[in-house]
Amino acid sequence: MGIETAISESRLWTLLMELARYGATPNGGVNRQALSSAELGARRYMIAWAKERNFGVTTDGIGNIFVRRNGTDNSLAPVLTGSHLDSQPTGGKFDGSYGVAASMEILAALDELGISTRRPIEVVSWTNEEGCRFFPACIGSGVFAGAFSLDSVLPLMDPDGIKLGDALAATMKGMDLDAAVRPASKPHCYIEAHIEQGPLLELANIPIGVVTGFQGGCRIKVEVTGQEGHSGTTPRRTRKDALFSAVEIISALKQVAQDQDDILRFTVGRFEVFPGSPNTVPGRVVFVIDMRHPDNTVLRSKADEVQQVAMASAGSCSVDVMEMSYRPPSGFQPAVIDAIRQSAAALGVTHLEMTSGAGHDAVQLDKICPTGMIFIPCWRGLSHNEAESITPEASAIGARVLARTVVVLADR
Ligand code: GLV
Ligand code: MN
Ligand code: MN
Repeated sequence: MGIETAISESRLWTLLMELARYGATPNGGVNRQALSSAELGARRYMIAWAKERNFGVTTDGIGNIFVRRNGTDNSLAPVLTGSHLDSQPTGGKFDGSYGVAASMEILAALDELGISTRRPIEVVSWTNEEGCRFFPACIGSGVFAGAFSLDSVLPLMDPDGIKLGDALAATMKGMDLDAAVRPASKPHCYIEAHIEQGPLLELANIPIGVVTGFQGGCRIKVEVTGQEGHSGTTPRRTRKDALFSAVEIISALKQVAQDQDDILRFTVGRFEVFPGSPNTVPGRVVFVIDMRHPDNTVLRSKADEVQQVAMASAGSCSVDVMEMSYRPPSGFQPAVIDAIRQSAAALGVTHLEMTSGAGHDAVQLDKICPTGMIFIPCWRGLSHNEAESITPEASAIGARVLARTVVVLADR
């Protein structure tokens, strides 16, 4: 009997709802930022789930969690599948959790049917995918794939001045897995299931997206410096108001962001005014631009244009523009995406080939092993929003395609 027959919609949904309790917000979403106590709750749930079922659980230096179901030949590299448990501050219940829970459901289904695979299967939850508490995003998968060294990320600080290394130490202690270190071996391949986070699948009424690659993205930090002064006494002509300059800059940047075909994605999602007192003229403003485009030439030239426009629009203040990160567009190697297409076809499920607008841990894994992603539709394409929603049925269809793909690859 095929593994897909044992994927249980209700068991998977229960798992998703259990995970959603950690960091639950009153508006129905989650605030489970990386290495927080809320995220630790979800980690501990995953670990307890694995131990109850006698799966091996290990971690590594950056706190990624690996739940392992042995194969018949454990000298072979494992098939790795999963996603992340951290969230945005006003995140939804499914971004990341869906891929972790669907992968856990596969292990439960394999046990239920007593199916042995040739290769081991490991379910992973990556540390700090979101990049909102600690920048950059995808730190856990990046360290795993060798894109960053562990030592280089430990001193990173969150907006409250807490070091990643300290938050990680607290999480490691709470996970109680210190002795269980995963050997640093390359996976055979990596497959990540995720909600689409955009509207295309829902609009086309297609249950599965086969991701062929990623658009590029960059983050640019703009720091405007003026001069603090008394709000009641400083005349307009002598003010150096950093907020007024920042608003001018953003107005000018709106023109840069205006592309006719609406492909460029331009966001200012963090904007800080200092000292943040109602009766002091703002002396400093820091804001961060997140910009994405599937064509590297366009992305590069827009990033350069942002720099020029920001410098030219600062008025009486000075401005510093820093490119924090730049990731060109990339495509997956064919091996895993072919297997996903074939699994969908074998299950009689239609699919849409698509480029991911969001970044994912799979971008990092693709550097070290064949990688692929499966998308499922989400309500109105909403994500990074507490109202983010999927149906139990859609979640089960995605898990069935994932399960078949994982088993096929684990038997190779
Ligand atoms: C990940 O959530 C991203 O910002 O693309
Ligand atoms: Mn995600
Ligand atoms: Mn996200």
